[in-house]
Amino acid sequence: MTRKKRVAILISGRGSNMRSLIEAARAVDFPAEIALVLSNRPDAAGLVWAREQGIPVAAVDHKIYAGREEFERSIQKMLEINRIEMICLAGFMRVLTPWFVGQWQGRMLNIHPALLPAYRGLHTHERALEDGVKIHGATVHFVVPEMDAGPIILQASVPVLDDDTPDTLGARVLDQEHVIYPQALALVAGDKVAIKGNRVLARA
Ligand code: GRF
Repeated sequence: MTRKKRVAILISGRGSNMRSLIEAARAVDFPAEIALVLSNRPDAAGLVWAREQGIPVAAVDHKIYAGREEFERSIQKMLEINRIEMICLAGFMRVLTPWFVGQWQGRMLNIHPALLPAYRGLHTHERALEDGVKIHGATVHFVVPEMDAGPIILQASVPVLDDDTPDTLGARVLDQEHVIYPQALALVAGDKVAIKGNRVLARA
């Protein structure tokens, strides 16, 4: 196998997707290694777990910076120091500027708790229930400057049940997130897919 890609996971909170990525990346044949976990919140629960696993962690507190650009330049520096080649956003709750996204075009993934392009933004499970949809799910996509847009790498659907609440539906979606995010990272890090326009296709 070719050398493993050095991946940073960016989080803001509990980091359950981060955990699924770290666990998947332990496999010898996984094409990526998690070389850094970075949070904009120093108190993110996910940082504690990652540190316990022996993963290098860093906190870059957005509140101490004058603006978004200054914050992002600091993150960028941290990524460069750690020789990061790809980014996985995993519950990272900061909007990224076109400049930062441009630095990582085709090399930055995000997971969203809905079947994009439906339900961009927040409170996806509440909105899906309000609309009465029968199918909901999760999406892993490449990050582009527009929020919750970008070429879709993988999706998983779950049925919406009659007695679902936002919490029960969200839990079922989260289980699927934990399945497809490592799969999507493996596809991209392993050079198995290519971006063609807005589509992600298997490499011939
Ligand atoms: C997940 O629902 C993910 O889809 C969204 O933010 C949440 C993060 O959860 N982007 P966790 O921190 O990975 O547990």
